Amino acid sequence: MSSFPQRIFSGVQPTGNLHLGNYLGAIKRFVALQADFPCIYCVVDMHAITIPQDPKELRRQIREVTAAFLAVGIDPVKNIVFNQSQVHEHAELAWVLNCVARIGWLNRMTQFKEKAGKDRENASVGLYVYPNLMAADILVYRATHVPVGEDQKQHLELTRDVAQKFNNDFAESIAACGFGEAFFPLTEPLIAGPATRVMSLRDGSKKMSKSDASDYSRINLTDDADTIAQKFRKAKTDPEPLPGEAAGLEGRPEAENLVAIYAALVDGTVEDVLRDHGGAQFSAFKGALVDVAVSKLGPIAGEMRRLMADPGHIDAVLADGSRRASAIAHETMNAVKDIVGFVRS
Ligand code: TYM
Repeated sequence: MSSFPQRIFSGVQPTGNLHLGNYLGAIKRFVALQADFPCIYCVVDMHAITIPQDPKELRRQIREVTAAFLAVGIDPVKNIVFNQSQVHEHAELAWVLNCVARIGWLNRMTQFKEKAGKDRENASVGLYVYPNLMAADILVYRATHVPVGEDQKQHLELTRDVAQKFNNDFAESIAACGFGEAFFPLTEPLIAGPATRVMSLRDGSKKMSKSDASDYSRINLTDDADTIAQKFRKAKTDPEPLPGEAAGLEGRPEAENLVAIYAALVDGTVEDVLRDHGGAQFSAFKGALVDVAVSKLGPIAGEMRRLMADPGHIDAVLADGSRRASAIAHETMNAVKDIVGFVRS
């Protein structure tokens, strides 16, 4: 296998409220990676329209996710920050990958089954081929690493399968075009830290999600201090105090979730948290959790508000990022056209 220069890509959908799961599982980790790697962070607006969106609200949310990227400390000069629809090569490569991926592979995608629900015949075709667009997002930059939460693992496996099949199907042409043994890297997911799957505050067996009907199930990045305090105080727990060791969290999903959230917020481990808070009642632990959450999230919400007051600045960031992303994507797409056998002038 050829070696590829390391490059990070990740995306966030501009649908519904960004929440603590998006932050701890993904966006917070984007910031840490920028110190060591070239990073491309994308607001995936084309993914958003796989389910119906209000155009006005979509526009606002594209800017809000961008504001969140900037507010957490992603540097849009050192990295590329942009929205997907401004780089048409995502859609173009997705078409080629639609012709590489197999229907059987897409039929196994659990997220499609969850999102389409019972009325599958009525789901959009876009929702069905969503994983191929996601593969195109990553592969159009030939990204080697993708930081995501646990829920995206299956999509990343599909991305690798699609890349591998493209490399195999076109092996001869890839070599003839001067790309050696493989054109696409087999991208590695980066799923790490204590909060790869933040759960609902109302039900420890359900993922914290933008689409949950109850706002009490999640902490939104734009929640103020009082709302954060109220939501954590109302969070479901069990009657036992916190254990002193991680093994004691087994079978206690709500306790496990709150401890993992605390650990991720302070950049610590579950063991650290239990060393400090083992034996505490939930009333006391929730108080400590509210304090760290407010001290970490408060400044982010404030900065997001400040940025959202100047949409012109956000749009300029996206325009600049899109220009730089396009340059890379265009080069990849030209190579793909040559490999596949399209004539181009
Ligand atoms: P999205 O927009 O649903 O979520 C954005 C990121 O947040 C993570 N995440 C969570 N992490 C921990 N706990 C949770 N409860 C939680 N909920 C969400 C997600 O894993 C994700 O990392 N398909 C993607 C967007 C996408 C993408 C890509 C990602 C499109 N193209 C290419 C990476 C690379 C999605 O719907 O994420």
